[in-house]
Amino acid sequence: MTVPVNATNLRIPLDTGRDREFLDSWAELEAIGATPAGGVERQAGTAEDGEMRDWLSRWLRNRGFSVEVDPIGNLFGLLEFNPGAPYVLVGSHLDSQPRGGRFDGAYGVLAGAVAADRIRRYVTRSGFTPRYNVAVVDWFNEEGSRFKPSMMGSAVFTGTLDLEEALGTTDDDGVSVRDALAAINGIGDREVFSSSGPRQLAAYAEIHIEQGRELEKNNVTIGLVDRTWAANKYELNVVGVQGHTGATAIEDRQDALLGAALIVVALRDIADEFGEELHTSCGQLTVLPNSPVVVPREVHMHLDLRSDNDELLAAADAALRRRIAEAEIRAGVKVEHRKAHVWPGHHYQPQGVELARDAANDLGISSMLVQTRAGHDSTNMKEIFPSVMLFVPSVEGISHAEAEYTSDEDLCSGVDLLTEAVARMLDGSLDAAGAGHP
Ligand code: HGY
Ligand code: MN
Ligand code: MN
Repeated sequence: MTVPVNATNLRIPLDTGRDREFLDSWAELEAIGATPAGGVERQAGTAEDGEMRDWLSRWLRNRGFSVEVDPIGNLFGLLEFNPGAPYVLVGSHLDSQPRGGRFDGAYGVLAGAVAADRIRRYVTRSGFTPRYNVAVVDWFNEEGSRFKPSMMGSAVFTGTLDLEEALGTTDDDGVSVRDALAAINGIGDREVFSSSGPRQLAAYAEIHIEQGRELEKNNVTIGLVDRTWAANKYELNVVGVQGHTGATAIEDRQDALLGAALIVVALRDIADEFGEELHTSCGQLTVLPNSPVVVPREVHMHLDLRSDNDELLAAADAALRRRIAEAEIRAGVKVEHRKAHVWPGHHYQPQGVELARDAANDLGISSMLVQTRAGHDSTNMKEIFPSVMLFVPSVEGISHAEAEYTSDEDLCSGVDLLTEAVARMLDGSLDAAGAGHP
């Protein structure tokens, strides 16, 4: 177990046995929705997501947190040290990708809960009253697999997505977010925090697996996230004409799947053309009517372009639109742009990076600056509240896959650092950082 060397200047003592305590809770949580190959199935609003939320609610209530849910299903555990004072919020998301990894999101929620609980016990023991209160959050539907877009719960919370629009979103079976949340008793009737209400937020912190290779390559334990890549997500309908795969003459075909396939190849061509500063993918393809003897009439596609360079991303977008126009001609189809979800490449507040770096140094834990190519709920939160975003290593950078893995030692070091960082935020150490990106 980790006992960081030369731990100095800490606000929260490092109790021996703390790693075991975290790992025992982690073992319970990672078993929910587990798949035989070591991954998890816990998509947003499913019964497994409900089981995770129920487990977290019990864990929080057993430790004196009050538990509340807001109208888009974000679940909060609150500890009031200082009546009427603002809260520092810490957490991540419990939902997963289909056959996803068991660490993505869930680690950050439990790490946040354990960090808050360690602070609670220190406050009780010491009689010290922090300037701010602390709350833990499980953001609803961060993954955006069953219901689009991703980071849905934090997008509604920060005002970038309309609540009714989010609740009315349906999955491929026509089930709405509203009905899915109701089925797991996951809809609250009022906001838990709001800019106009009695409860205010002072800052936000999140720890997450890196989902990349930088920390592993550099043999460093903690990533201090200072910037997020931008993302362009496109939902396209490729519309052709249904026909017989055998009888219809080739020149008479308007093959929606050919059009979609040309767009998939174009995505990789553009990534190869623009180099490592651009990531592109088509992750979801729905073929209609999806019969082996029918030329497809329609294909629904979800495309994803990411870069840290706004100009390059704009050029890649233009290249993609040119290739879509070529695909329409070649396959004799029409491509409709249904919806898009974008977030800009922005920095996290540098004061948050420095606060976390100082805490890591005091704990004797190695750290380095990293960028995030994946979106997180902190992508939304940093635009409104001073935020700290931390990573722990992912073995071989694997994520959104059952082979996703992070060692117990790195998990425990991350909890130690998150605890100390949140303790410093509770004392107002991040007050000087403004909202939004520098
Ligand atoms: O879209 C994202 O990057 C996040 O992992 N859901
Ligand atoms: Mn995640
Ligand atoms: Mn994810």
